[in-house]
Amino acid sequence: MKKNKISKNWIRRQKKDIYVRQSKIEGYRSRAVYKLIEIDEKFKIFNNTKSIIDLGAAPGSWSQYIVKKNKKSEVLAIDLLNFEKIDKVNHLVGDFTKTENQEKIKSFFNKKVDVVISDMAVNTTGNKNLDSIVTGELCIDAMEFAYQNLDRKGKFVSKIFMGSSFNEIVADAKKKFKEVNIFKPLSSRKDSKESFIICKFLR
Ligand SMILES: C[S@@+](CC[C@H](N)C(=O)[O-])C[C@H]1O[C@@H](n2cnc3c(N)ncnc32)[C@H](O)[C@@H]1O
Repeated sequence: MKKNKISKNWIRRQKKDIYVRQSKIEGYRSRAVYKLIEIDEKFKIFNNTKSIIDLGAAPGSWSQYIVKKNKKSEVLAIDLLNFEKIDKVNHLVGDFTKTENQEKIKSFFNKKVDVVISDMAVNTTGNKNLDSIVTGELCIDAMEFAYQNLDRKGKFVSKIFMGSSFNEIVADAKKKFKEVNIFKPLSSRKDSKESFIICKFLR
């Protein structure tokens, strides 16, 4: 399919999408927020949490939700892209996979944190297998970082694609965390290979 045909289809789909309309009404920057809300309702991620790292945060709807839910939480949001500031959210622009940026995140908190969430995904190439491999690598990096930096009772949530690295990621998660669940929110598009891995309590 030609590129401008894909973008016309995308615009048509956005206009029809109830989550897009709802996000505009509620003042969220992206429909992605409803995935996090569903995850939070089912797995109670943000009850009594104070320190949260949001990886791949732009345009910022997940961070908006966190500070709305818990006004006292300390949030650090990182993305490759610069995005409009959110009140009470600390921003970092850069590549999360770079050691220097991971060091900046660690020194910002200077202690173990309560929650690490990652919605990181690369720009889709149209090749679903390639997209799932690259996004799988981001999930692996995020999980290792979470494992090193979470409190023992900490929680890790990440986008994961159903693809060649899926089983390996789940097996690794089970070695690192006591509770591991895979969940596809209703608000995640049915034709997308996206799901979420929800991990709790370090081993
Ligand atoms: C689906 S969007 C996130 C949406 C966000 N959760 C929200 O609620 O607004 C995925 C983001 O991951 C970011 N991303 C991809 N690779 C990254 C990396 N290596 N480091 C930081 N951010 C990255 C992209 O720039 C993109 O903004």
